Amino acid sequence: MEDSSRIDPWSSEQSTDYARIRDQFGLQGVNIHKIPNPSMLHRRGIIFAQRDLDVVLGCMERKDPFGVLTGLMPSGRMHLGHSMVIEQVRWFQQQGADITVTVADLEALATRGTSLETGRETAIKEYIHNYAALGLDPDTTNVYFQSSRPEVQRLAFTLGRKTNLSEFEAIYGFKGDTNLAHVQAPLVQVGDIVHPQMEEFGGLRPIVVPVGVDQDPHLRLTRGITGKTNWFNVKVRKAGGLTISLSVQEDNSEIFGTSTNGRIDRTVRESIFERLKNSLTPIGYSDYISNPKHGTLDIPGAKASDLSQVRMCVLRFERELGGMGLMPPSSTYHRFAVGMTGDKMSSSKPETTIFMDDSQEEMTKKVKRAFSGGQPTVEEHRRLGGDCSKDVAFQYLQFFFESDDSELSQIARDYEAGKLLTGEIKQICIDRASEWLKDIAERRDMWDGRLEEFLAPDAL
Ligand code: TRP
Repeated sequence: MEDSSRIDPWSSEQSTDYARIRDQFGLQGVNIHKIPNPSMLHRRGIIFAQRDLDVVLGCMERKDPFGVLTGLMPSGRMHLGHSMVIEQVRWFQQQGADITVTVADLEALATRGTSLETGRETAIKEYIHNYAALGLDPDTTNVYFQSSRPEVQRLAFTLGRKTNLSEFEAIYGFKGDTNLAHVQAPLVQVGDIVHPQMEEFGGLRPIVVPVGVDQDPHLRLTRGITGKTNWFNVKVRKAGGLTISLSVQEDNSEIFGTSTNGRIDRTVRESIFERLKNSLTPIGYSDYISNPKHGTLDIPGAKASDLSQVRMCVLRFERELGGMGLMPPSSTYHRFAVGMTGDKMSSSKPETTIFMDDSQEEMTKKVKRAFSGGQPTVEEHRRLGGDCSKDVAFQYLQFFFESDDSELSQIARDYEAGKLLTGEIKQICIDRASEWLKDIAERRDMWDGRLEEFLAPDAL
């Protein structure tokens, strides 16, 4: 990465300075006590940051609808690194989410020159087949292709009006020689992320996007853009309560009673405010202070915790008036597992990772050669113990293969005490990985010829 203040989603390098990234980009931490039925990735702190996750947790609690949007780049083979996101998607699905899966075939074409035909084949054979094997439920999963969903492309265009080249330069480091297909890819991704909120794709509801930090630039872009489309802003009021303020823009100024010369039509404004108050009746406030001229409505009796409910009402009202009524996406971020050689995992370097369909022999060879946190000699190892934070075998047990927390901590203790030798921890990893791969292969066989069940009607 040439500029460390930026994250490049297409780079082959990966920043793992998670604390810095979290602070610099304003990510929030994850409070494990607020997560219902936490998965192994939550319990182990592997999912380490989030934006607006509380909105989604609220839905889980109230049994309100919410969705997950995830995307895959249909190039190369699926490996363990990719499976982590799907584990999270499955967890969200078990907590009540509907799932939309983007096949980023336009992005693969733009950034890697993959043809749409090849992209389609790779997506289904390599990725969707394994998603099925990992346990996604086809009843509430919809896979679509960027190239065959015009609503997504239309959104990319429409929302493109809310950003510009300077912002793209600041976020992605694009320059004069960046090709334009590459410039379009992030806008299509914005379309991917927001489109499940459209009426024809499930309607207004929170959408959460689980990703690695490398994808955060797209989420920042999306949040910025959705914010700019909103016709109302809801904020916590200094004196207590909440304030809703109108955001007067080109496409709503007439509806909001602002004429081109800036004069305000009081009757129109007042009726908007009446309707705005009506839209909040489901929450039931008795007291409002409205200032139609300034375009603000104060709700002194509202609690800060009402914020997301008020925002929902206001977005519904915005849609009634003809606005887009878009919520910013929620997101979660996971740490990356180290590559087996100590570098980044990459499909183009097979020795850095385990593929979903690696043979037992291939897997065994990779684990045996993997980077170790053990000491150079047995004598030293017995005396000083191994270092789990550097040991690939340990980390793969932690991230993927050993779901039992007490087993895992026993292994960590024994390794760090020098009781377990490097060869021994590697053998444990090989045994668990071998079960895991066998299980996945069997489940893949179960789904042979049935993958259409996962495809949306426009993907068939
Ligand atoms: N850019 C993602 C990648 O490189 C793929 C993708 C496209 C995606 N649209 C998305 C990921 C929406 C998450 C959400 O893998």
